[in-house]
Amino acid sequence: MARPMQKDIDMEISRDSGDAAGRGIPLRVGIAGLGTVGGGVIKVLDANAALIARRAGRPIVVTAVSARDRSRERGVDLSRFAWEDDAAALANREDVDVVVELVGGADGPALTLARASLHAKKPFVTANKAMLAHHGLLLAELAEISGTPLKFEAAVAGGIPVIKGLREGAAANALSRVYGILNGTCNYILTRMENEELEFADVLADAQRLGFAEADPSFDIDGVDAAHKLSILASIAFGARPDFAHVETTGIRDIGLADIKQAAALGFRIRLVGLAELVGDTLLQRVHPSLVPLGHPLGAVDGPLNAVVAEGNFVGRLLFIGRGAGEGPTASAVVADLIDIARGEAGPAFAMPALALAGFAPAGPESRSGRYFLRVRVADRPGVLADLTAALRDAGVSIESLIQQASGADGTARVAMVTHETTESAVQHALAAMAALPAASGAPLFMPILPQDG
Ligand SMILES: NC(=O)c1ccc[n+]([C@@H]2O[C@H](COP(=O)([O-])OP(=O)(O)OC[C@H]3O[C@@H](n4cnc5c(N)ncnc54)[C@H](OP(=O)(O)O)[C@@H]3O)[C@@H](O)[C@H]2O)c1
Repeated sequence: MARPMQKDIDMEISRDSGDAAGRGIPLRVGIAGLGTVGGGVIKVLDANAALIARRAGRPIVVTAVSARDRSRERGVDLSRFAWEDDAAALANREDVDVVVELVGGADGPALTLARASLHAKKPFVTANKAMLAHHGLLLAELAEISGTPLKFEAAVAGGIPVIKGLREGAAANALSRVYGILNGTCNYILTRMENEELEFADVLADAQRLGFAEADPSFDIDGVDAAHKLSILASIAFGARPDFAHVETTGIRDIGLADIKQAAALGFRIRLVGLAELVGDTLLQRVHPSLVPLGHPLGAVDGPLNAVVAEGNFVGRLLFIGRGAGEGPTASAVVADLIDIARGEAGPAFAMPALALAGFAPAGPESRSGRYFLRVRVADRPGVLADLTAALRDAGVSIESLIQQASGADGTARVAMVTHETTESAVQHALAAMAALPAASGAPLFMPILPQDG
């Protein structure tokens, strides 16, 4: 047997000497925001301090913090940290090397702190998808001008390393589309509606009671939160400037138990899907309730889980799944960014230099195609079905399957249809014609259908 080389022996000795690898100069962290995520970051850094130091090559220690209310009990000992009433002051402290922003909000103190940190050449870590969706390009430019890392793994899909996965792991690929379930609150509501046969409003009220939904749930259930995340994913996947303004966004308020049942009878689950796709030289960005085939990987994503699918030209289909929110998963992602910074790993925030990011025109409905689910409520009387099919025929839309649910107490019947492959502009023409029928009751609803293999 070959004798070990001296360098191998030295490596063994270093391994045996415990955490010697983690005894470098500490990375000193200032945290603004000590709520769910900020408190979680302190807990992760405390609980895994030795392991993190060995992985990072140096200890990561919190030195200063900021929040609104200094006296609030937070389940962590804050007496060891300096306190700043003004979060922006963290950026200029001598004892802070890295600033972590966990306050939230697209503007206000979060943005002030981001600017101050990058201006002071202090690496900046955030979980703030709203701020990145609105000001991501500006912040990436500031980071590049000052040569300072800007990191936000926690901003999309919480604990799932999807930013790292796309920015680094899939960096060799041209990506054709990226899509997923990006909001745990909506997924929790839709899953419970389906499993327990409950209506939207009842599950929402229960989710608020249990802490799965905010007191003001509109950002979640109207799809805004998912749209923030999608604009960040699209930027990284396609080298696009973050463009939240062009994310078409529809939430889940109008989804009823009857829709879920009709979709199930046709072999689908309803999920709020965020999807970004290059269509020629335009970019489709859309958050919309969608029909997912039961056999599709997203069809099995239940409760508060998140999942992201990306398709690369060499790697094929990637699936990321896990917990997209909550103290532990989100803090885990924030600390992963801190470990990268401690190791000296940087790179452009959106996977390529900000100057190289392109502005894409949004894809219009005429350039989108696929199969669609349509649902209309109509007066339950003879001849109405013929009127519906005539509207579809005139728009050039052909139907693959149709279910009519017997009329309810209000005398209307719900008719659900799945189209063959068609364009979305044709579907919209058909919907407009159906809505104009004298027998129509309320606005018709449509949902895109994810292809089984897409
Ligand atoms: N919660 C999640 O699961 C999750 C997941 C992914 C991303 N995020 C993102 O992470 C960020 C933080 O979310 P969170 O859930 O931890 O929020 P949170 O529980 O509401 O905590 C917010 C914290 O910010 C502090 N704060 C508010 N205004 C401030 C100001 N002007 N200066 C300094 N501190 C201020 C609050 O102080 P007080 O405590 O004194 O009121 C609180 O500690 C947000 O951007 C959110 O979108 C959260």
